[in-house]
Amino acid sequence: MDIELRNNTLFFDGCNTVELAEKYGTPLYVMSETAIVEKCKEIRETFLKKYEKTRAAYASKAFLTLSMCKIIEREGLCMDVVSGGELYTAIKADFPAEKIEFNGNNKSVEELELAVDYNIGRIIVDGLDELGIIEKVCREKGKKMSILYRITPGVKSDSHDYIVTGKKDSKFGIPLDDEVIFPAIEQAINSKYVDFLGFHFHVGSQLHNNGSHLQALDIALKLIKDTKDKYNFVTPELNIGGGFGIKYTGADDKKPYAYFLDPMMERIENFCKDLNITRPEIVIEPGRSIVGEAGITLYTIGTIKDIKGIRKYVSVDGGMTDNIRPALYQAVYEGVIANKAEEPKTDVVTICGKCCESGDILIRDAKIANAERGDIFAVFSTGAYGYTMASNYNKNPLLATVLVKKGKSEVIVKRQTFDHMIANEVIPESLK
Ligand code: LLP
Repeated sequence: MDIELRNNTLFFDGCNTVELAEKYGTPLYVMSETAIVEKCKEIRETFLKKYEKTRAAYASKAFLTLSMCKIIEREGLCMDVVSGGELYTAIKADFPAEKIEFNGNNKSVEELELAVDYNIGRIIVDGLDELGIIEKVCREKGKKMSILYRITPGVKSDSHDYIVTGKKDSKFGIPLDDEVIFPAIEQAINSKYVDFLGFHFHVGSQLHNNGSHLQALDIALKLIKDTKDKYNFVTPELNIGGGFGIKYTGADDKKPYAYFLDPMMERIENFCKDLNITRPEIVIEPGRSIVGEAGITLYTIGTIKDIKGIRKYVSVDGGMTDNIRPALYQAVYEGVIANKAEEPKTDVVTICGKCCESGDILIRDAKIANAERGDIFAVFSTGAYGYTMASNYNKNPLLATVLVKKGKSEVIVKRQTFDHMIANEVIPESLK
């Protein structure tokens, strides 16, 4: 287990979190390499090894650093990127180009050029005009690019509205109206500049129920059948996205990967048998489920305000700048005072950040031990979409990130300094 309580202290992947806070300062992201590796292993054991012709592309938007690229490469996964910056990070970490897949609803020409120059594995085309741009870039560079079409399956999944992506009213994907999708498929199949591999869908994120994955799958399979009937084209690849939910709190009913993937694979295999076609290669794109529970954030407690009969605010030295999720999605987290980890949780408080914003609340009504200035507060399951969605609001510097493994710790992202924050600012002559 990555989380342990010893001598009234929280340990994470064998490291004393109070000592981590002292050594590296707070606020601090702590990522457990052991936990990340365990997740990758679960994917290998229950999906990649169990089913032939499968790949898993880590959705790097969840947490991406050069070191993370190295771990993902070592663990045998591919990488999904969604911007020039993510692609650049993977390139700088020498991530194998053919294992990179590029998603995104508005890729720029420069980003597509970078992808073609670097000979990445696949571009997931997200709109009708994108194919033309890729064809032009490939023509100019004398290259051919493998592509898939991201489709909008038109299903509604059960998660926060901001993180569901499969419904028809979405900025993502190509809608499945016959007069839209089939000409696009025909153009891709006949193109000299791309290899058309098939389809991609992603229904949403933080899901604990496989219903929308299965619904979307049925829609994608029908499209594969129609494509075969119309063009005698057997789809070589199907990407079924990510979205597998994690445990933020005791209320989250987390499921293993197999809960989502086994019934999908069974359906795909039966479908292919019935149609007498070779099964497409199946790709998944997990992000949060690989890193979410592998991360915690350590803060130092500062001001405590007890508004009698109303609420007790316990402030920490970070907040919405390092974890925007509670403010943006009303996401719920749990935490503990790391140096009082085994003391009775006798108080109910609101853990708030230090930003000038009333909504800068990390946890409402947290049950914790008696908090005092200087205590170290740990928030669990912050490994996904914390670091990658961080901001410099109120000119708060971005946090350092430490990678821990069986009692050892190493910095993988240095703390931003005030100087880093103003490094790109210029005062024009007119203001001097
Ligand atoms: N593939 C595609 C095409 C995606 O758009 C996403 C997430 C994933 C894979 C990975 O999904 P995951 O396995 O991590 O659920 N910032 C939000 C989450 C946005 C997810 C966007 N797309 C949050 O903090 O909840």
